[in-house]
Amino acid sequence: MIEGEEGRKGAKRIQTYEEEVGGAMAMATTAGMSVRNVLWLWWKLLVLVSLTICVLAFLKLQNYSLSDSELSSSTSSISSRSRAVDYTGNPKVAFLFLVRRNLPLDFLWGNFFENADTGNFSIYVHSEPGFVFDESTTRSTFFYNRQLTNSIKVAWGESSMIQAEKLLLGTALDDPANQRFVLLSDSCVPLYNFSFIYSYLMASPRSFVDSFLDKKDVRYNPRMSPYIPMSKWRKGSQVIVPQSEL
Ligand SMILES: *[C@@H]1O[C@H](CO)[C@@H](O)[C@H](O)[C@H]1NC(C)=O
Ligand SMILES: *[C@@H]1O[C@H](CO)[C@@H](O)[C@H](O)[C@H]1NC(C)=O
Repeated sequence: MIEGEEGRKGAKRIQTYEEEVGGAMAMATTAGMSVRNVLWLWWKLLVLVSLTICVLAFLKLQNYSLSDSELSSSTSSISSRSRAVDYTGNPKVAFLFLVRRNLPLDFLWGNFFENADTGNFSIYVHSEPGFVFDESTTRSTFFYNRQLTNSIKVAWGESSMIQAEKLLLGTALDDPANQRFVLLSDSCVPLYNFSFIYSYLMASPRSFVDSFLDKKDVRYNPRMSPYIPMSKWRKGSQVIVPQSEL
C-alpha cells in the first residue's frame, strides 16, 4: 500500500512536475510570443517611420523641383542668353523689323539678302496683328511667314513700341544661332552689302545704339530735369545692334 501510495505520490509528483514543466514551457512560449510581438511591433513602427521619412523626402524633392521649375521659368530669358553665348555653330545676324504694316522698301532688302548665305541671317517682323506678308503684300519672298504670331497693336512713340521690340528680341533669342540683333524700322535701307555688314558686326565686340546731339532739337522739356539734364539729351533712330551677351 505504502509502496503503492509512494508510487502514486511519485506518479503525482511526476505529473505535477510535468504540469509544472508544461506550465513553464507554456510560459516560455507565452514569453516567446510576447517577445515576438514586441519585435513585430517595433518592426511595424520602423516600417512606418521609414515610410513617413520616404514620403516626406518625396514631398521635399517635389518642392525642390517645383522651385527649380519656377526658377527656370523666371530666368528663362537669362538661360537662353547664356545658350546664345555658348553657341559654337555658324553665328547668325537677326534682322528685326518693327514696321507699321508692310515693308515699303522690301525690294531693297530682297536684293540685300539675295547675296547672303541663308545660314548667316534670320528675319523677324513685327507688324500690325493679323497683317500677312505674302505675294499680295510683299515683293520679297524673304519676308513671307516672318511676322510674329504674338504681335501687338503699337502706337507710335508709346511704350507699346518697346513691348514690340522686346517681343522681337525675345523671339530671336529663342534661336541660339542668333548672335547679333539689328533692330530696324520700315524706313531703314541697307547702305552696304550683306557680307560687309555681317563681317563688320561679327568682328565687333561692341553693341551699337544710334544716338546723336541734335543742335536744332526743340523737343527737350525742362520738366525732364533733373532725371534727364539738357546736356544728356540725345536724338536717335530705332536702329540698335545689341550683342547677344547683353
Ligand atoms: C561688299 O562690299 C564690300 C565693301 O563695300 C566690297 O569690298 C565687297 O566686294 C562687296 N562684296 C560683294 C559680294 O559684293
Ligand atoms: C557666312 O558665314 C560664314 C561663317 O561665319 C562666313 O565665312 C561667310 O563669309 C558668310 N557669308 C556671307 C555672305 O557673309
